[in-house]
Amino acid sequence: MLLEIKDIHVHYGKIAALKGISVEVNEGEIVTLIGANGAGKTTTLKTISGLRGLSSGTITFDGKDISKLPGHKRVMAGLGQAPEGRGVFPGMTVYDNLLMGAYTRSGDFGDDLAEVFELFPRLAERKTQMGGTMSGGEQQMLAIGRALMAKPKVLLLDEPSMGLAPLMVQQIFSIIEEINRRGTTVLLVEQNAQQALKLAHRAYVLETGKVVKSAPAADLLDDPDVQAAYLGGGLGHDAPPERDGAESRDVPGEQA
Ligand SMILES: Nc1ncnc2c1ncn2[C@@H]1O[C@H](COP(=O)(O)OP(=O)(O)O)[C@@H](O)[C@H]1O
Ligand SMILES: [Mg+2]
Repeated sequence: MLLEIKDIHVHYGKIAALKGISVEVNEGEIVTLIGANGAGKTTTLKTISGLRGLSSGTITFDGKDISKLPGHKRVMAGLGQAPEGRGVFPGMTVYDNLLMGAYTRSGDFGDDLAEVFELFPRLAERKTQMGGTMSGGEQQMLAIGRALMAKPKVLLLDEPSMGLAPLMVQQIFSIIEEINRRGTTVLLVEQNAQQALKLAHRAYVLETGKVVKSAPAADLLDDPDVQAAYLGGGLGHDAPPERDGAESRDVPGEQA
């Protein structure tokens, strides 16, 4: 097993956000965590990457207990994260944003930059554009590209589909599939359960800080409880995407 989260409890002050979450990720897998707003998905990812501390429980990565390791050392060990809200540096160019992703590394990263540009031709076209002027979908590509520059063994993705039009969601998800095909393990957090379950090998359903179900992703697509809670009403594929001004270029018919 590449990444094991065992019975983790995480608090914000006195509030328990995670009440004993256990998740396993094997090398080569795409694992998804689905669940409604507030279920604890982001907190789980932040705890894995070291942005939140544990009250109890353990996180083991690549055979080592990393529960107390500082975040930057987790990046160096091979955990890469594209955070919720993307976290693109708005006043830096696309190129410089990507270089920031390689800050923990030494040596030549030319090949990795070339691979990011191959996966995301749009980023290659927009190398000198300021990150903050990119569309929502392009910023998501940049956030993933930047995480890849650290050469992660596991890529942690927090709601990459958030706020994107359906065509852009499809493009991002097919690139995630390609990244996985090329050898990177993926832990994907999504509210878009339909798309995430189609992409992932295995899935965990989170509700109010607990895992209430785990199964092969395909089984959950057919699970009546999951269908009722996450695929039929509001959170499934029929939910209209949130739109904002910056997203207006991601209309159907346009290419990535
Ligand atoms: N910075 C914070 N301070 C206090 N409570 C928080 C904070 N961030 C998240 N929470 C709470 O922790 C719980 C889990 O939140 P989160 O992990 O963001 O859920 P999700 O990503 O599934 O929407 C929620 O009850 C949320 O209100
Ligand atoms: Mg979240």
